[in-house]
Amino acid sequence: MLKDDIAQVLITEEELQAKVKELGAQIAADYRDKNPLLISVLKGAMVFMADLIRAMDIHLGIDFIATSSYDGDTSTGVVRILKDLESDIYGRHVIVVEDIVDTGRTLNYLLEILQARQPASIRLCVLLDKPSRREVPIKADYLGFSIPDYFVVGYGLDFAEKYRNLPFIGVLKPELYRKK
Ligand code: IMP
Repeated sequence: MLKDDIAQVLITEEELQAKVKELGAQIAADYRDKNPLLISVLKGAMVFMADLIRAMDIHLGIDFIATSSYDGDTSTGVVRILKDLESDIYGRHVIVVEDIVDTGRTLNYLLEILQARQPASIRLCVLLDKPSRREVPIKADYLGFSIPDYFVVGYGLDFAEKYRNLPFIGVLKPELYRKK
């Protein structure tokens, strides 16, 4: 089973669901009547996004953007746009939904690109934060959990494209991590 590859469950399915409901309610209260556009960063944030929008009882739109900066588990420092938005965000209230902020490079780059398109406002909703790894100053407006510097998988996050479908956030067994 997939979970046999996990050394430690960091955040359980129940904890995730409770937090996402709380974040959804908070964002919905802040954006009532604003018809925000939630932009999910593929692929990692798609599970979070899917749960988050169902916790928001307001009108909203969704869109997706895909960037690439990681090869396996290490940052190359290079961020590329692999898939751009379909929507015009000019004048829209935008919320960028991301799975994790690590060095902050991906979001720093993304926010710069999106800001240039002149949305009415732009905020950041992040499920996980690893503050000890930060290289550029990025701060989430809505944050799920701050975590230590572990490489985590599950709930959308992968290791070499695997483990995205685990319903919790876990730390891989070191022997699996090193083998790749
Ligand atoms: P940053 O640009 O260093 O902030 O990296 C952000 C991206 O790196 C995230 O969107 C993830 O795709 C990936 N990433 C960073 N840490 C982890 C991790 O612990 N597990 C899985 N992916 C991670």
